[in-house]
Amino acid sequence: MTSASHSGDTSAESLLQVIRKHPGQTHTYASLSKKLNLTTDQLIAGAKQLALWDYRIGLRLSKGITFFSAPDQLTSAEISLGLNTKQIGRHILAYRTIQSTNDLAAAQAEHGAPEGTIVVADQQTKGRGRLGRAWFSPAGAGIYVSIILRPKFAPELAPGLSLMTALALARTLEKLCPDAVAIKWPNDVLLGGKKVAGILTELSAERDKIGHVIVGVGINVNHGVGHFPDDLKQTATSVRRFLKHKVSRVELLRYFLAQFESEYTHYQKHQLAQSHRQLRKYSSLLGREITVIAGRSRISGIAHDIDIHGRLILRSGSELIPITAGEVTVEKR
Ligand code: BTN
Repeated sequence: MTSASHSGDTSAESLLQVIRKHPGQTHTYASLSKKLNLTTDQLIAGAKQLALWDYRIGLRLSKGITFFSAPDQLTSAEISLGLNTKQIGRHILAYRTIQSTNDLAAAQAEHGAPEGTIVVADQQTKGRGRLGRAWFSPAGAGIYVSIILRPKFAPELAPGLSLMTALALARTLEKLCPDAVAIKWPNDVLLGGKKVAGILTELSAERDKIGHVIVGVGINVNHGVGHFPDDLKQTATSVRRFLKHKVSRVELLRYFLAQFESEYTHYQKHQLAQSHRQLRKYSSLLGREITVIAGRSRISGIAHDIDIHGRLILRSGSELIPITAGEVTVEKR
């Protein structure tokens, strides 16, 4: 993988489509040339490119080309293969290292990138979290992805996209780690009580019309204990830390994109009218004593419910207070 998009290297990608169907089998240049309409030189260049992207490829001038195994690299070719979506992730910009996938996705959206385009990176040097925090984004361990959306609905409905994304993430992680996933309202995803994924949704709108929304998602996948800096060791986890073995980032991303598409389709029609029940089910907060900080206001009480608009309902004495946004701390008793 290089620091540029892979979508351009068509000979490597078309070669891969053919050879990876038969691991261990050697394909002669003549048969590949015929199938792919490529010259031997183009096939060799394609195979060398695949080796640079960390595929294990056998290349013998006398015999032909053999596919052995694919790396767990978030390349366009790997993500596309078997991706079960209609629109989300159908256009992929994959990078080895960039500052922030959200920043690049916003620039692409300004240049007209279609809805569903994703920007994905193996590493971010300036990964951004909510409230101006940094998002820890080491190479080879996490999924850092931003999805460009162009919803037709009013800007007021955009914040619900974060909740909807949290639900898609919870469903994704639930598949690997049943009964261990929770959502800390509004959009932190927890595994075994520690943060495993976060969402940064950024809106570009003019008056009553959305231009685009960037939904940025960071998932801690294969981080080992030693990976996390001291300030995160107690509060953050990864899928690997929880399961005690590595998982395929590519498969996890593909599955998440499919879950995301299904939740997004549903959200456009019904918003959270039905999904808020799932948000309740996954909530790590309901029934607990919490403090919410929203702007300059700070309010404490019991997390009572999540309503059909995705608002957190706080019970303070006999009052029920709906909260649309804020940073929640759970009071330790
Ligand atoms: C949070 O929990 O604070 C939100 C974290 C969001 C991180 C993701 S990683 C991909 C995308 N690019 C960024 O710079 N941030 C988001």
